[in-house]
Amino acid sequence: MSGYNVAVVGATGVVGTEIIKVLEETKFPIKNLVPLASERSAGKRVDYLGEPVIVQLLTEDSFKDIDIALFSAGGSVSKKYAPIAAQCGAVVIDNTSFFRMDPTVPLIVPEVNAHDVKKHQGIIANPNCSTAQMVLPLMPIHEKYTIKRVVVSTYQATSGAGKEAMDEMIEQTVSIVNGNGPTEPKKFTRQIAFNVIPHIDEFTDNGFTKEEMKMTDETKKIFGDDSLEVVTTCVRVPVFIGHSESLNIETEKPFDIADITKIISEVPNVKIMDDVANNVYPTPQDCVDTNDTLIGRIRRDFSVDNGIALFCVSNNLRKGAAFNAVQIAWELVNQELI
Ligand code: A2P
Repeated sequence: MSGYNVAVVGATGVVGTEIIKVLEETKFPIKNLVPLASERSAGKRVDYLGEPVIVQLLTEDSFKDIDIALFSAGGSVSKKYAPIAAQCGAVVIDNTSFFRMDPTVPLIVPEVNAHDVKKHQGIIANPNCSTAQMVLPLMPIHEKYTIKRVVVSTYQATSGAGKEAMDEMIEQTVSIVNGNGPTEPKKFTRQIAFNVIPHIDEFTDNGFTKEEMKMTDETKKIFGDDSLEVVTTCVRVPVFIGHSESLNIETEKPFDIADITKIISEVPNVKIMDDVANNVYPTPQDCVDTNDTLIGRIRRDFSVDNGIALFCVSNNLRKGAAFNAVQIAWELVNQELI
């Protein structure tokens, strides 16, 4: 059988499960699929093309004969095993933040910088979920009108923090609805049910969280432009799937607002949902079954000379993780880098 040997590290997690689905849906040419996880899941089965495939224990010997290894099992697993996989000859596509800002590791959103894939030295990084969806509407605006500054507030789903976080939201909601009050927060710092939490990842010395600084730093790296300023507030909301973002974008050059909608609509894997007279705008419910990033509420921001305001929604497990990672794998195939 022709095709590639593909390992999925963290195959039983929320992102790993989605990676296997996207590999199936895009008919990625796979000779052998090797799902890898910890001893907690080794021996269990995952479904691939209707067949059960046994999950194997991740070890240093897992990567012999592997062509592509998609990692989504946390930073410490990537830190230890991604270099081992690369040493064995696999190309690693890493979903964690561990290698993203390493200057020898390309950080890729294919619609924006597919040309950087060929610079890889064994490891390619997938950006933070909130960054991946945001750079899609920014790309054509920056190309044509030069973005000076972006102010973004996020409304991020609990699935971004993994399965246990989603379970915590369910248990807490059920407990409150049954009149028993909230259960103790575990994965989150505060109650997530019927609440919003302006705190994702750890706080840094400058008052921003690591999640917020990821959006700032990764956007500059993806565009290869340190002058593009991004200031962020990241907020966790009680939604299962789908990150939303409110963006205010300031450009150097003047524009016609109709042209902004037009150029965003031409970006691959972007869909405009913008007809306010009929209450058409994107919400997280609209992105659950799609790889598309949904854009609406496009309007002029009158508070600055050349300002745009818009609302951007995407499936954080898809464009924010699995779909983008599989797109990178396809780039390796299509650019004949593997
Ligand atoms: P496991 O099922 O064995 O715990 P999520 O982000 O949804 O919590 O999923 C995390 C994924 O990463 C799971 O597939 C989990 O496997 C895997 N994982 C976590 N720690 C390790 C580890 N030390 N070695 C291998 N896989 C791991």
